[in-house]
Amino acid sequence: MPCSSSLKSTLTCALLLTLVSPMAAQASTALAVEHGCYSCHGLYLRDEAPNFEHTSSRLAKYKGDAVAEQKFVESFRTGQMFGHIDAHERLSAEAAKALIHWLVEGAR
Ligand code: HEC
Repeated sequence: MPCSSSLKSTLTCALLLTLVSPMAAQASTALAVEHGCYSCHGLYLRDEAPNFEHTSSRLAKYKGDAVAEQKFVESFRTGQMFGHIDAHERLSAEAAKALIHWLVEGAR
């Protein structure tokens, strides 16, 4: 347990979680960089990887449709949709969700 039971550290911990969680939930370019997405989807595209601008405009159709977006996240992460790409399948459910949401919202 990262949060121990003493009152002082519980408060500190709660404060830290409050500060950190919104950032973790909100994907950004930094998250994509951190996960190495740009090594294939970046300026120099690798294999058949589309650039994120293109992907983002394709995924814009999921805007406001959380159910369809989540379905896309699942097939993306389990490799059903685009063959088996390690970088996609290694993502946690949470990271995949955040990244796809970021793309749906325009990848900014
Ligand atoms: C090893 C290279 C590689 C890495 C790293 C990689 N991808 Fe991909 N990605 C691909 C390829 C290749 C495709 C296209 C596969 C196809 O069309 O069959 C693809 C397709 C996609 C698609 C679907 C695109 C579309 O327009 O339909 C999304 C979304 C995506 N990748 C997101 C990501 C994210 C987010 C990351 C970072 C976690 C990432 N990829 C990392 C190679 C990669």
